[in-house]
Amino acid sequence: MPAIVLVGAQWGDEGKGKATDLLGDRVDYVVKFNGGNNAGHTVVIGDQKYALHLLPSGILSPGVVPVIANGVVVDIEVLFDELEALSARGVDVSRLLISANAHVITGYHRTLDRVTERFLGKRQIGTTGRGIGPAYADKINRVGIRMQDLFDENILRQKVEGALDQKNHLLLKVYNRRAISVDEVVDDLLGYVERLRPMVADTGLVLNQALDAGQTVLFEGGQATMLDVDHGTYPFVTSSNATSGGAATGSGVAPNRFDRVIAVVKAYTTRVGSGPFPTELFDESGEFLRSAGFEFGTTTGRPRRTGWYDAPIARYAARINGVTDFVLTKLDVLTGLERIPVCVAYDVDGTRFDEVPVNQSDFHHATPIYEELPGWSEDITGARSFTDLPKAAQDYVLALEQMSGSRMSAIGVGPGRDAIVVRHDLL
Ligand code: IMP
Repeated sequence: MPAIVLVGAQWGDEGKGKATDLLGDRVDYVVKFNGGNNAGHTVVIGDQKYALHLLPSGILSPGVVPVIANGVVVDIEVLFDELEALSARGVDVSRLLISANAHVITGYHRTLDRVTERFLGKRQIGTTGRGIGPAYADKINRVGIRMQDLFDENILRQKVEGALDQKNHLLLKVYNRRAISVDEVVDDLLGYVERLRPMVADTGLVLNQALDAGQTVLFEGGQATMLDVDHGTYPFVTSSNATSGGAATGSGVAPNRFDRVIAVVKAYTTRVGSGPFPTELFDESGEFLRSAGFEFGTTTGRPRRTGWYDAPIARYAARINGVTDFVLTKLDVLTGLERIPVCVAYDVDGTRFDEVPVNQSDFHHATPIYEELPGWSEDITGARSFTDLPKAAQDYVLALEQMSGSRMSAIGVGPGRDAIVVRHDLL
């Protein structure tokens, strides 16, 4: 099973690291195919803790080739900050490959992200402010700057001029900001060229050749299904395809080469930023999930919105991504609850919806229809096989599996790397 896609099933922060750890040293390449430094994952190796925002987690595993593929938007300053911080701690970062077709996030994208959010007022998306949306907008508008453009100063200058032409009018006349000079941007980007040269490659070709040779490639999605620009809660989404289809367009590996699609789903639900969230809790249960689950953003530090498990969303994720296996995370956070509500359908102004409504207004008005499952009070963090779990915890997992459209192959039972119950191998 050499090509594996790993995605988030909900609104992000499901704990993909748990699944990556399970695949461990059996992977030869780890590919980031969408998003940029809006992601945030903390990887703990031994007594060392690493916070990564842009680099694929594979950068920390000796022998793995980490790849930033064409679907990613790269903030080069952040790239080198992360690389230097890792090098200083003795991590070998020399294997990193970056697609020549990946787009670049520049200072003007960051500026525009912040000013447009401010301009939106109460309609704001709650972005991470990292310039992700404006960089993808330029890509689709065909005024983006790609990695390969940096190696030809003339082309780079022309492209930056083209990109800034309209933006400077906007910045000056609409947002009341200073104009950005072409020289300032070009000089900044050229400053990185020599260090980038050995990393930039035709990564689509490299990955296809690796698969031809029988190597194992893991495609790690940033963000998650409900934040996907096509399939998420638009417009409260990120600007890329975070679902499994994005792994193909975002990397240059064709859809029929993928063998397995793993989705990580939390035993409850969280979301950062604005947008609909039917099972959101505003009472002490929500506070309980936030504090027991340490639900604060890795990238922005914002407290996450919290709510119960939403089975129609898991089913939706199973369908959109073609999920073959779920990894259920943070089951231990629910320990101590007498009864655990699970959303099985929605009520929209008196009409029952068993699936996620396609209409945005319906989803905004959806109130959850709950089924209550019995809780457990035993500490489950030491469980390593399914039968180690108390009966009520086993039943909770089996009920979720039955409602969610795919098997639950692994279950996270604690923060430690080995705190996991495996029911079916992921490779
Ligand atoms: P952007 O990706 O910065 O444009 O933000 C768009 C939306 O996606 C906002 O609601 C963010 O909070 C959310 N978002 C972006 N990256 C992540 C992530 O890694 N986890 C969870 N939410 C995210």
